[in-house]
Amino acid sequence: MRPLGYDVDDNAIRFSNYFHVLRELVHFTNGWMPLEPSWERKYALGDHVHDDARALTKIKRRLYELRSPSEYPGSPSPELAELLDRMARAESAQDYLTVAYNEAKPALVRAMRIHLENLDPVADEPSLRLLTQIVERQERHTDGHGRFDADIGALPVRLRTEARELRVLPPLEEPARDDFVEVTAGGDPYLSRELYVNGAENHVPVEREEQQHFFHGLMDAELSAAELMARNSHEHPEMPWDFHVDMARQNWDEVRHARLHDLLMKDELGCAWGAFAVGFSYFRSIYGYDLLGRLCLFNGTSEQRAMWRHSHRRKTLMELGQERVALVFDYLLADEVPHVHNGVRWGSYLLGGSEQAYREKVRELRAELDETGAPASA
Ligand SMILES: [Fe+2]
Ligand SMILES: [Fe+2]
Repeated sequence: MRPLGYDVDDNAIRFSNYFHVLRELVHFTNGWMPLEPSWERKYALGDHVHDDARALTKIKRRLYELRSPSEYPGSPSPELAELLDRMARAESAQDYLTVAYNEAKPALVRAMRIHLENLDPVADEPSLRLLTQIVERQERHTDGHGRFDADIGALPVRLRTEARELRVLPPLEEPARDDFVEVTAGGDPYLSRELYVNGAENHVPVEREEQQHFFHGLMDAELSAAELMARNSHEHPEMPWDFHVDMARQNWDEVRHARLHDLLMKDELGCAWGAFAVGFSYFRSIYGYDLLGRLCLFNGTSEQRAMWRHSHRRKTLMELGQERVALVFDYLLADEVPHVHNGVRWGSYLLGGSEQAYREKVRELRAELDETGAPASA
């Protein structure tokens, strides 16, 4: 006999509870990720925040199908609010990770497992498919850590209430790195401007030693890019949900790029993360702008210009027979296209939907940069 299943309203209540947990996980993971020093954990956070954002998109869709408001489906019960408040009150990345990974995610997994056991697999097959996918990913995130006994899916939802406010963390001073990574004002002095200019003057690193420095610097730049996207999302909870999904995707892409460079350094170049100093002057110069300025200068300028260099680097390295290194740039280049588009999409949105106004803003802000894309005044 198949289970009797949940009625449509109870089913929607369960999804509403998952909605609240995932919404706040996405918000705070983005807030804390730049402050997590460990490269491995930072990577995991970039990966998970993207999973969580996609999961929430699918849950919103299911809420809509179940005739529930999918933008904000009522407020969580006091019991669930208590768990969410503890997540919001965290005062360090470590504090946050403890609540998120030992309680919030295990609570989701537990409730989704109960949901899967009790739903009608035919009448409610869409929920069956959706939850099977999501719960499997969430289990991988927690890796068996943490346990949660209560079923948060069954908690009531208070309809027609104000949305829970999302606490925004104080602005970043600078992102955190593993303590074995030296952070200096100027970063790695080996990295010269010729590596970052477009056109005839561009220098492609082809020797082993210069490639070591170059990919190390690039790994740090990818982390900074991920952290910038994380903070764009965290600091702007008022933006439409799709913006957060785009930022989460880019966050994950950038930490994947960092991972690619990490592996390349280990496998091909005989060096490792932490071998050279890193610096945050470029990160600061972009982070100091408002959201529109960051989108214009980072997505619309820095990433757009990097596309030319990636393709140039790929071509030069292919000609030298360095296929493995060349292929890295092929994928960086492919991923850069949607990243540049994120600038167009959300920059235009911030300017009343006018792509032309965005292009003008990009031109205006670019005029303040030098030929490497750094602010001319710095
Ligand atoms: Fe990247
Ligand atoms: Fe990018």
